[in-house]
Amino acid sequence: MRLTAGKSSDLDSKVPLVVLLVPEGKGSLRAGPLGKRAEGLVKSKAFKAKKAETLVVHAESSGGPRALLLVGMGKAKEVTRALVRRAGLIAGTRGAALGAKKIVVGTASSLELDQEALGALGEGLVLSAYRYPVKKSDSTPPGQAVVVSGVRGAAAVLKNAQQVTEGTNLARELGDLPGNLCDPNHLKSIARKVCTAGKLRFKAHDKAALKRMKMGGILAVNAGSDLPCYILEMEYKPARYKKTICIVGKGLTFDAGGISLKPAGGMEEMKYDMCGAAATIGLMKAVAATKPKDVRVIGIVGTTENMPSGSAYKPGDVVTTGSGKTIEVINTDAEGRVVLSDAIHLATKFEPDAIIDMATLTGAVVVALGHEAAGLFSKDDKLVARLEEAAARTDEKVWHMPSYEAYDEAVKSKWADIRNSAGRDAGSCTAAAFLFNFSGGVPHAHLDVAGAAWEMASKEDFPPGARGFGVRLLHDALANW
Ligand code: BES
Ligand code: MN
Ligand code: ZN
Repeated sequence: MRLTAGKSSDLDSKVPLVVLLVPEGKGSLRAGPLGKRAEGLVKSKAFKAKKAETLVVHAESSGGPRALLLVGMGKAKEVTRALVRRAGLIAGTRGAALGAKKIVVGTASSLELDQEALGALGEGLVLSAYRYPVKKSDSTPPGQAVVVSGVRGAAAVLKNAQQVTEGTNLARELGDLPGNLCDPNHLKSIARKVCTAGKLRFKAHDKAALKRMKMGGILAVNAGSDLPCYILEMEYKPARYKKTICIVGKGLTFDAGGISLKPAGGMEEMKYDMCGAAATIGLMKAVAATKPKDVRVIGIVGTTENMPSGSAYKPGDVVTTGSGKTIEVINTDAEGRVVLSDAIHLATKFEPDAIIDMATLTGAVVVALGHEAAGLFSKDDKLVARLEEAAARTDEKVWHMPSYEAYDEAVKSKWADIRNSAGRDAGSCTAAAFLFNFSGGVPHAHLDVAGAAWEMASKEDFPPGARGFGVRLLHDALANW
């Protein structure tokens, strides 16, 4: 969906659908004759403008828009960016259902958008255009959305929203694709495409290269799979930069648990175990498009399946990672951290100012936070603050979890430098403590996105499936670094 900035006369133009964001109370709908009729419906309380309430009015005569959709925004003073984003999502979804090729979106006179709200509206519209690529969808998203606002620099704001959200939608697509279609080869080919299109450096370390690099962590997890494994590098490097930031994503294209096999119920959802990698690839697509100043960004993805087989790694095994540190394998289902040990170690080679990893790492974080937020783990207060600020601006929520020394103690091993599981207690915290062993003193934040990355229920007009979580959050953090 292409976003463009419009003018108020567009609200009365001859398009299939005009959408108006309407707060409670008085105010002109400023959408020509159809708007006048809708104003009557507002007066008669047929439409109360409660949050996310909708009403469609169809035109009786020709000229002007064929239909008008009102989206309620609640009290004007309490309108949040999240609600405006949701209104954009509703507008695009309803536009598609009506078969509109072009829609115009604006606000009632009693609601003025600022730059941030306009961006959120644009994000919502582009989010609505995502379609799962395998099954034929019954609706086609509008090709164009004209957004009418009084905002200065509206075109640039909308362009940025579109570029970032297209990264989010790519992450959603990769997440929703099943393990037979989105395997390590697929992630590699999409990452390469993103790099070619966006003029980023791309490198795929294949199995032979990983052996040369002594990356015994990812190789151990891959041992049970018939498919290849890779560590991918995607690098954005502006001519002048002040900081180097590495983003690392967990890319388990399917996690059966390995020899510590998962129960059958719900195992199909483990196709989503590459959502950290998907967000990393989507983020790099966004970064390549928006070209943030002053930061060099390197996206690193570790990708493999985790399968049981005669050649699979086993509980009790001790593996030597690329960093030289050894891991005692307690549970082969705690494979994400084993893969990330090598991916994070590779990140340190770029001497970055910070490492941020995204991983669907633990079921425990879903127990703690549900699907509302990612668990944020870091011992670096400045990095925590940055990510919390970015979360507040993007509504991709993070919750700062503790990193007590006791968790570092809990992952110590009798047989190796570290063990990959310390049992049930504080499962997400001990997983984070494990990861911190491989960042070599570089400021490191770990985002456990096991809950935030996908949800099988639809919520607030967002369809079930992958959320693309992390793209908007980290793009914002990078743009404001
Ligand atoms: N990919 C899973 C984590 C997961 C589970 C994400 C459910 C989303 C929903 C991860 O590889 C895993 O299996 N973790 C184990 C760790 C345990 C064996 C220490 C877990 O959380 O149970
Ligand atoms: Mn697992
Ligand atoms: Zn996993």
